[in-house]
Amino acid sequence: MSNKKYAVTVAGGGSTFTPGIALMLLEERDRFPIRKIMFYDNDAERQETVAKACEIYLKENAPDIEFGYTTDPETAFTDIDFVLAHIRVGKYAMREKDEKIPLKYGVVGQETCGPGGIAYGMRSIGGVLEILDYMEKYSPNAWMLNYSNPAAIVAEATRRLRPNSKILNICDMPIDLEEKMANMVGLKSRKEMKVGYYGLNHFGWWHKIYDKDGNDLMPAIKEHMAANGFADALSNTNQHVDQSWIETFQKARDVYAVDPSTIPNTYLKYYLFPDYVVEHSNPEYTRANEVMDGREKHVFGMCRDIIAKGTAKGCGFEADAHATYIVDLACAIAENTGERFLLIVPNEGAVENFDRTAMVEIPCIVGSNGYERICQGAIPQFQKGLMEQQVSVEKLAVEAWIEGSYQKLWQALTLSKTVPSARVAKLILDDLIEANKGYWPELK
Ligand code: NAD
Ligand code: G6P
Ligand code: MN
Repeated sequence: MSNKKYAVTVAGGGSTFTPGIALMLLEERDRFPIRKIMFYDNDAERQETVAKACEIYLKENAPDIEFGYTTDPETAFTDIDFVLAHIRVGKYAMREKDEKIPLKYGVVGQETCGPGGIAYGMRSIGGVLEILDYMEKYSPNAWMLNYSNPAAIVAEATRRLRPNSKILNICDMPIDLEEKMANMVGLKSRKEMKVGYYGLNHFGWWHKIYDKDGNDLMPAIKEHMAANGFADALSNTNQHVDQSWIETFQKARDVYAVDPSTIPNTYLKYYLFPDYVVEHSNPEYTRANEVMDGREKHVFGMCRDIIAKGTAKGCGFEADAHATYIVDLACAIAENTGERFLLIVPNEGAVENFDRTAMVEIPCIVGSNGYERICQGAIPQFQKGLMEQQVSVEKLAVEAWIEGSYQKLWQALTLSKTVPSARVAKLILDDLIEANKGYWPELK
């Protein structure tokens, strides 16, 4: 390991995940030494609550680390090595609309899937590009590790508009599911497994899973999937613990049954069982409401408490153990470790019988010069068919954003497997346009 110490900017400083990430960075300092943590957000007030609490925590626990928070891009992005980006353009107020508007028409209302995901994408593209541009202007050698959603659409937008940027798009869902699968077969960690995986973000399948000695773990994992989905092996992280998540892990049993030769990502339930999802949704109270009443109140409550007391001792702040993959990824770049990650990258033939220009989620080897893809070969007709439809949704949404095209966005919604007809697509789209005034480019 080199003696270098790194400077990190957390973009989306006011995020509910920020304290957990900041504490995790402190815990992992042995392998990823830090000299500076900077928070950046475009909502000064929201960020201040989180940042003041973290400032107190850092003073008490890591006084050697320089800490700051700002809404000024130059201050935020000068002299840094990594940007960890988790912004939510429009915050929970807009997530709620993304989820509730489609449900009004009997269509899946979800943060990243279906019309809600498209709407969120139309808001996120500009926000993520802006941060990437700030980073390149003020710290041209820095890397951005992006997990702002919807990652599929954001990644396609960066492929089209910033093809040479140092950005890695990554999602934590496969990490959690791999932890659960490792649990199923009695391994201590997902890191003891080597996987084959292909798909799009929130739209993929494992087709190979081996242990360190090369033994095939798929048969044992499949037995668990057939019985209880991922619910047999709930891991003890602090993310994905609410009842609605447990139901998603259980529902994976039915998703698995559609193609028992692979293990599905949980998000496929929105595409393969949209009728079930809608029946089990409350159009008056969606996941956004759960998060606002749960995680947001909890995190901001702790922050206010710390600020009021002037100390973080016994405050309840916890490191986000689930998020250590972000440090793994930063280390892979900083220390050239060559570790494997599932990343969202341009296909370029890694999935042999699929669009070369698609942003696919596949295993990659990561080192100081970026990533190298691990070829996944040709994929079966079922997955190929689904992926071709979904990648077209994502590409049309990005084209609609670039061109300001109403027609293309209507086509994107119409093509989504969650939407029954062009008529319903148009009704939802017109409501979404109204709700997203000021966030979306103007569509003609
Ligand atoms: P949050 O609303 O609590 O936090 C997001 C923050 O981003 C807010 O403080 C907001 O003011 C800020 N923001 C919005 N637009 C901005 C912009 N243009 N520039 C700077 N800051 C901006 O949301 P959250 O629930 O904590 O989630 C944050 C993000 O992380 C979301 O995009 C979410 O989908 C994503 N996420 C991704 C994964 C993954 O695996 N990919 C996992 C968890 C969360
Ligand atoms: C998973 C996904 C993320 C998504 C999150 C939503 O971790 O990979 O992309 O943002 O779930 O969680 P929430 O608790 O906000 O519904
Ligand atoms: Mn994700």
